[in-house]
Amino acid sequence: MTEVIIEAAETVERSSFEVERVRRDFPILGQSVRGNPLVYLDSAASAQKPQVVLDAIAECYEEYYANVHRGVHRLSVRSTDAYEAAREVARSFINAPKLEEVVFVRGTTEAVNLVAGTYGRQSLNAGDEVLITELEHHSNIVPWQMLCREKGARLRVAPINDRGEVMLDEYESLLSDRTRVVALAHISNALGTINPVRQMADIAHQHGAVVFVDGAQGAPHAAIDVVALGCDFYAFSGHKAFGPTGIGVLWGRLPLLEAMPPYQTGGEMIRTVSFEESEWNVVPQKFEAGTPNIVGAIGLAAALRYLQALDREGWQAHEALLLEEATRRLEGRPGVRLLGTAARKSSLVSFVIEDVHAHDVGTILDEEGVAVRTGHHCAQPVMKHFGVAASVRASMAVYNTLDDVDALIRSLDRVDEVFGR
Ligand code: ALA
Repeated sequence: MTEVIIEAAETVERSSFEVERVRRDFPILGQSVRGNPLVYLDSAASAQKPQVVLDAIAECYEEYYANVHRGVHRLSVRSTDAYEAAREVARSFINAPKLEEVVFVRGTTEAVNLVAGTYGRQSLNAGDEVLITELEHHSNIVPWQMLCREKGARLRVAPINDRGEVMLDEYESLLSDRTRVVALAHISNALGTINPVRQMADIAHQHGAVVFVDGAQGAPHAAIDVVALGCDFYAFSGHKAFGPTGIGVLWGRLPLLEAMPPYQTGGEMIRTVSFEESEWNVVPQKFEAGTPNIVGAIGLAAALRYLQALDREGWQAHEALLLEEATRRLEGRPGVRLLGTAARKSSLVSFVIEDVHAHDVGTILDEEGVAVRTGHHCAQPVMKHFGVAASVRASMAVYNTLDDVDALIRSLDRVDEVFGR
């Protein structure tokens, strides 16, 4: 009884996060879909944008847009200042020690390709190994697979258990003095598992490997501190962190970035060019060939500042509450199988319904105004582990409510009705 009271008191306290105020910051959330209020549960695929991001983008285009680093005129100086100020915001968001360590990229996918194609290509030889985990998104598998093929190196995979957690003993036993790179997700996009990054990075470093962390699902949920995480590279995408599409951040330790060759060549990344040879610019410009995504970076900075201004503890407790509620209600449902029940999980639920294809579930949910992702979530090895081709994934973000969870569950009643279950 006492426990129940304490639990209830905690729930009240934990739900004191002002989610309705947050929701008002996201204009898209106020709409109806097919006559029902939109219930957006697909933030792990791409998150919605607060008004401050939309305003920052419009303000740049309306008031001071020009190319950066290339003009002495007023607009170019203002754009350059705003672009470089965005780099500082990104630096502080991940607690990177140095500003030069922050490289703007297109997104996490480009960051993995950049590191594999430069650091990886430079440091791997035949017989070397790259270690990833069974949880990885395709974008943190395929670039390493291609690199290993090119170099005659071996891609090794740390397995997960049936809760969707990396088996740390197996992980450690796969490391050796042949391991050059360990690449792992901060948070699994398909299951929500939060990896013990610090512990995994420390073990990898004992074997001399460099650690790349795919933070695509980390940045929208966790407080990111690349120093505390102990990794060597960390990457995230703007669009999943409530910023625009087509912009992301790669952080790397400065000595590593300085020793890496360029990823792409072109304007801005060079210091001198002649027809005989060229000399590279300093980091981070060495990795930002061509006109960058200026407005994307400015919009991303607005998103990151927005997140930094939120009550982080309240926000995390709120997401934990949403996860608890969604898990509790799905666990009790006949015919539903939850995939991924890790002890440390972010706010998403991935599940299958007996005898109903995930895409059919997604279609029926859409008729109810509920947006989820269905499919393999670009993580086919995870699906294979659980013996399914696809799952339904409801991913919850800072602006979701317990009513959204309720709407998800009610829309599953509709699935049962349609399929006569
Ligand atoms: N990687 C994104 C997802 O998990 C697209 O949905």
